[in-house]
Amino acid sequence: MAFKIGLLGLGTVGTGTAQILLSPTGRYPLLHEIEIYRVGVRSLDKPRAVQLPPEIMTTDLEAIVTDPEIDIVVEVLGGLEPARSLILKAIAHGKHIVTANKAVISRYGPEIFTAAEEAGVYVLLEAAVAGGIPVIQPLKQSLGVNRIRSITGIVNGTTNYILTRMQNEGGEFGDILVDAQKLGYAEADPTADVDGLDAADKIAILASIAFAGRIKLPEVHCEGIRQVSAADITYAQKLGFVIKLLAVAKREETALTAESLESEMLQVRVHPTLVPQTHPLASINGVYNAILVEGDPLGQVMFFGPGAGSGPTASAVVSDIANIAAVLKTAGESHRLHSLLSCVHQHYCAIAPISELVTRFYARFLTKDRPGVIGQLGTCFGQHEVSLESIVQTGFRGELAEIVVVTHDVREGNFRQALEEIRALEGVDSIPSILRVL
Ligand code: HSE
Repeated sequence: MAFKIGLLGLGTVGTGTAQILLSPTGRYPLLHEIEIYRVGVRSLDKPRAVQLPPEIMTTDLEAIVTDPEIDIVVEVLGGLEPARSLILKAIAHGKHIVTANKAVISRYGPEIFTAAEEAGVYVLLEAAVAGGIPVIQPLKQSLGVNRIRSITGIVNGTTNYILTRMQNEGGEFGDILVDAQKLGYAEADPTADVDGLDAADKIAILASIAFAGRIKLPEVHCEGIRQVSAADITYAQKLGFVIKLLAVAKREETALTAESLESEMLQVRVHPTLVPQTHPLASINGVYNAILVEGDPLGQVMFFGPGAGSGPTASAVVSDIANIAAVLKTAGESHRLHSLLSCVHQHYCAIAPISELVTRFYARFLTKDRPGVIGQLGTCFGQHEVSLESIVQTGFRGELAEIVVVTHDVREGNFRQALEEIRALEGVDSIPSILRVL
């Protein structure tokens, strides 16, 4: 065998990875030259869905990342630690890395890629974003000649499953979340998914590759789907929209100067969004993911498929392993990092504050049912330069009138200031939801 793998983790993705490597059915002859040399697990006694020789299994993960025989360390442990420390130690010992760990890469990417460049090793992460969908390598390679304008993705299957069921069944978020947990579609602790954090990790990684710069994760604006109610889904549908949790990374058109591409601003954000029913992302339902990339001269291209799961995610992991093996085999001892696989950018992208975003908004108000309330809303919006596309009283919720507003493009800061004033109006009870419109 030419290439020796140290596999860290034998959970869902690790098991899928081992299964592909033990009986490769793909067309690369190279897959037969890859040996699972050591496997690091937390417990040796746990029953496993894949048969591996007991002598290659160990609970000593450090021994794997320092083993001189191992060429590529595959980290599929998940979580921040010990994954981050093990990746860094493996790099320090000259190992190439394949990881599915979006949380580690989105937080510690700069530290890891700096160390990898110094050590002359690759860190590949196709499986970290959108599971089985090839999007990282296409962005780096096939689309690398394009100037990317935007990436708009549905990159979290759990929230897409919940929103799809809310749309199809008319149920409330809380009830469908509980059912999704019972059925195994949502984690016992759903925070990372439903609060948008998982999607924020993924869009930070995609933005970093598409815009060739580092992204500070805390600068990614992130809202989840807890505030989306059955009422919003219904109104959105009547207005010609579906609600999706979108992860967006986009160049700020206004800040663009031909001379200084590096100083331009990006928007990087995750939030529930009203998507026109005719938009390509509107029909991505259930646990599926999709990523729409727009660039010049390409135009639009959309990647669609399974965003999680053992087989799909392992397919991405093994393709990264095969890519590294192929490059090493061709280059031999004189190997220098291949620019189509490595990540060498060092500057940080400037991210525009969300208050500078210019977008359309949908907002739902509960107000006292008395003359003049709609007029007061209109006046407040007008005073803050918020132009309205529509304002309708849609009915009643108990004693309160329900009013739905859709704006034209407005600066988010202006819209929020208008809402602060509206909240203080005596006739206004509450603003249960504020959503952006694509
Ligand atoms: N929890 C993620 C999702 C899958 O629901 O899409 C792993 O990134």
